[in-house]
Amino acid sequence: MDNTLRLKYLDAMGIDVWVSKAPIDVKPRLPAVDAIVDGGSDRPAINDWNALQTEVSNCTKCALCETRTQTVFGTGNKNADWLLIGEAPGQHEDEQGKPFVGNAGQLLTEMLRAMGLAREEVFITNIIKCRPPRNRDPHVDEVGRCNGYLQRQLAIIQPKIILAVGRIAAQALLNTDMPLARLRGKVHNLNNTPLVVVYHPAYLLRSLPEKRKAWQDLQLAMQTIKISED
Ligand code: URA
Repeated sequence: MDNTLRLKYLDAMGIDVWVSKAPIDVKPRLPAVDAIVDGGSDRPAINDWNALQTEVSNCTKCALCETRTQTVFGTGNKNADWLLIGEAPGQHEDEQGKPFVGNAGQLLTEMLRAMGLAREEVFITNIIKCRPPRNRDPHVDEVGRCNGYLQRQLAIIQPKIILAVGRIAAQALLNTDMPLARLRGKVHNLNNTPLVVVYHPAYLLRSLPEKRKAWQDLQLAMQTIKISED
């Protein structure tokens, strides 16, 4: 996406594109996972993270392993306060092995920046780690088989807040078929972690009228994490 277009989208969302790039005051709660030595901690150690990554990369739990180029485990800070969970890798993600790297990903990066967050300080993943053929919606059994990986990522990261990015991720995480319009605008609870539902950036690229609501959702998330720190 070129810069002019990107700025147009952010402007339509009501986001001041000149906001500071300095991160908001989110203090790391826990030592970096790398710093944790095995044993003696109730937090899983770095070996668990590496083992999980290896397990995901070799996964054959569902038929998506036959069509993927590679798995997309997620990227960012494994000790992040913010965990963003999208739907599934698309073509670019499947090729590069990283989540949200296409046009929608660029908009997501800008949305994060507008919140004062860099991609490197949050962790971004998806409810499933392999691309469904032709980007179809993930099947229920694929989400179910992949869920253990997401739960282990959650247990290791222990985020302060989860952003469910888009309807499919929100419905899967909250185990509901409610429409996104009813899921957004409130703070949910996922195993004692606050969860805020936000519009998928791919949808925002297609739908100008929703962009202001999208910024409201991000502001709700920022307020929620601030309250949890006070
Ligand atoms: N859309 C998603 O939900 N996840 C990605 O990683 C890319 C696009």
